Amino acid sequence: MDYDEMVSKLKANNQEHIIKAYERANEETKETLMNQIKRIDLKQVADLFKTTKEEVNFSNDVIDPIAYVDKEKISEEEYKKYLSLGEEAIKAGKYSVVTMAGGQGTRLGHTGPKGTYDIGLDSHKSIFEILIDSIKEDCKKYNVTIPWYIMTSRENNDDTIKFFENHNYFGYDKSYIKFFQQGKLPMCDENGKILINEKGIIKEASDGHGGIFQSMKKNGITDDMKARGIEWAFIGPVDNVLVKMVDPILLGIMIDNKVLAGGKSTVKANASEKVGVFCKRNGKPGVVEYTEISKEMAERVNEKGELVFAESHLNCNMFNVKAIEEVANKNLPYHIAHKKASYIDENGNLVVPEKPNAYKFESFIFDAFDMLDDMAILRVKREEEFAPVKNAEGTDSPETARKLYKDFYNMK
Ligand code: UTP
Repeated sequence: MDYDEMVSKLKANNQEHIIKAYERANEETKETLMNQIKRIDLKQVADLFKTTKEEVNFSNDVIDPIAYVDKEKISEEEYKKYLSLGEEAIKAGKYSVVTMAGGQGTRLGHTGPKGTYDIGLDSHKSIFEILIDSIKEDCKKYNVTIPWYIMTSRENNDDTIKFFENHNYFGYDKSYIKFFQQGKLPMCDENGKILINEKGIIKEASDGHGGIFQSMKKNGITDDMKARGIEWAFIGPVDNVLVKMVDPILLGIMIDNKVLAGGKSTVKANASEKVGVFCKRNGKPGVVEYTEISKEMAERVNEKGELVFAESHLNCNMFNVKAIEEVANKNLPYHIAHKKASYIDENGNLVVPEKPNAYKFESFIFDAFDMLDDMAILRVKREEEFAPVKNAEGTDSPETARKLYKDFYNMK
């Protein structure tokens, strides 16, 4: 791309203000900026911005409860069957784990990747070490080395890799750990103008955890899986210190039912808990967010008095590699987040807003579910598998996660 091409692309997309940023920049920054302009689909950004003005209307969607298996209530015979199907696949080296670690962790406020955070255990293990400890245990149990793929973002990729290197990959075989970066999208202001960041280049932000499917394909992760003979991948978050990444029961249920996707749920604490729940949306698996569900639906109970929409989505899901590839070939919808974002204005001054001033576009992993025909849902116990680290204090904080972790492992 040369200067004239850049200018005409910006003008054609109503982003002329970026020309000024270009003129102001030094040679190195000019090159970075021009490369961004070449790469970014400005028409896509304009289309996404248009959607910020649209009212979200779900009224035509038919939302029904989804069938699930309660781990507690599986008969002994069925449990044995699932366990043996799942374990057989794991022992045969067909299983991998993927961790989504590309988030910004703004609520926690830790500088550095969330996985490097020390939740305050006596051992002072980082979250990454807590996760790898549990994978190691399963490797030992099944006599395999389970490949671990870690999704990072542009912001935290180098720090994440450095952390693993500094800790000698926590004694894990390094050739079984692979990092890949998720996608990013420009942020724009309330008039659809793309923001310039403090470095004088386009302000880009991670495109949400739904970008994982396309990122896995683009970065050769699905190819790597196939080359290693892997058929299944657990995809979970970095910020749940009790996440059970190797789960033969869910895998066994999926194999037995011949479904290519599965997810874990815990029963909602109460009708008004602010969590998304698994559902059937227009006959396909999905998640209905707490903002989308009416009070009547949230409070609906069955003949036993149990909530009908109760299966909280834990962001702990499992996919066949074929399903990952299938979803990667399609585009997920983007959701809009109205955020505070500092930027450099047209006169070259830094603006630090006090209220939300910018739009960020993110896709969510659960929007992929309706691209799959069916999904197996396994209800598990909250205290066994869910200890999220989201906020600096209060609910879902290091303090609550630490307690849950210690209680689970019977630590003092
Ligand atoms: P959250 O939705 O809690 O976001 O991520 P976050 O970025 O970690 O935290 P806040 O909202 O800024 O405080 C749930 C999981 O999805 C990953 C996170 O790393 C976490 O494991 N994630 C989220 C990504 O990998 N990429 C994203 O773009 C967003």
